[in-house]
Amino acid sequence: MSSAKMRRDDVSSTLAMNELVVQMRDSGRTVFHMGFGEAPFPAHPRLVNALREHSAQKRYLPVAGLPALRAVVAEHYARLAGINTDDYDVMVGPGSKTLLFALQMCIPGDVLLPVPSWVSYAPQAALLKQNVIPVELELSETGLSMDAGVLRQAIVQARANGLAPSKMILNYPSNPTGLTASDAALASIAEVCRAEKIILIADEIYGRLAYDHRYRTVASHLPESTVITTGLSKHLSVGGWRLGVSLIPKAATGLFDDMCRVASETWSCVSTPIQYAAIDAYQEHADIEDFVRTSTDIHACVNRYIAGKLRALGAECHTPQGGFYNWPDFTKQLGDVCGTSDELAHRLLDEHGVATLAGSSFGERPDKLCLRLSGCDYDGKTALELWPALGKNADEFVARAAPNVVAALAAIEDFVAKLSR
Ligand SMILES: Cc1ncc(COP(=O)(O)O)c(C=O)c1O
Repeated sequence: MSSAKMRRDDVSSTLAMNELVVQMRDSGRTVFHMGFGEAPFPAHPRLVNALREHSAQKRYLPVAGLPALRAVVAEHYARLAGINTDDYDVMVGPGSKTLLFALQMCIPGDVLLPVPSWVSYAPQAALLKQNVIPVELELSETGLSMDAGVLRQAIVQARANGLAPSKMILNYPSNPTGLTASDAALASIAEVCRAEKIILIADEIYGRLAYDHRYRTVASHLPESTVITTGLSKHLSVGGWRLGVSLIPKAATGLFDDMCRVASETWSCVSTPIQYAAIDAYQEHADIEDFVRTSTDIHACVNRYIAGKLRALGAECHTPQGGFYNWPDFTKQLGDVCGTSDELAHRLLDEHGVATLAGSSFGERPDKLCLRLSGCDYDGKTALELWPALGKNADEFVARAAPNVVAALAAIEDFVAKLSR
């Protein structure tokens, strides 16, 4: 079975899990939602006002995006990421997911994917009839990295097998692991990609949610052939606004034009009022910057709390460094009683009402009992209100602001205790 085929089947299991949650809730059962990650905070009032102000804007915009928005995005990333954005073309798209698909389409050849990695990359490659070449990630308390020799060997072996690796998608902070990459790890990956002429697609959608508040980009190490994708969905909690951006290096000749061609024949342009409102999101207003900082601190508090509890149950779980996920591995503990991560996820849902996603949905070996837990099942407005008074005391804050998270962890504890008996 090709890797692409294997991953497509895994995504079906993800959808099956989603449907199961809906069915269970419809039948009156309580289900704790650690399966699906959506940033929980309210849309920032400044953005809501900007959207209201521009709601009468109704004309089609240029396919690459509103010029004023593209300009402010370039200025913002020059400051934030420390790259020379004059060397990039900015493109606005309907969510970074669509941009990632279009990029995979416009960079012909096969895709190197870290294991584990986000659920949609491989199905996108499968839709495009491109092959997936898996490359193992190394996960540790210092973050995620990739052994240069392993990466080089994967490329060489793929070529020997008649595949044509042309690009790699790298995501940090990462969904599903919650870890990010150090500058040294990014530099090492960039060096191999430069030598092997691999274009890096840097999925930095969680880039502003690094818990140490440092923005990292592999583009500082490989400016000429790194395409950055990002957007508003995660750090500004407005996934439904569908505003993604991409910075496309001018040195990747023809890529921006090809992306514009895809855009012009498919989405035409992102919703016009949203593009006008998004200008404010990139102007670094103090209130929006504070909001991003506080949201990040809350994600850090809740997700580190989850990691601590999972470790106390005996799971292997690294302390998350960004975004809103945990990636516990129960293999040592439950490997004798549970065959696959999919079985583990289904039993946890059926028997204890906790929705998670199986590690196999992220390209991980099915018999490695990893789960991806999303730490977002709480009311973001309440959390923001409680944070100033309770933020210093994680246990009390999580108990008051995120009772479902506490209840879900208690249910996982019961489940693990039952299986380990
Ligand atoms: C790793 C990763 N990349 C990209 C996306 C897509 O985000 P959007 O299309 O909302 O920009 C997501 C959303 O879940 C994600 O987790």
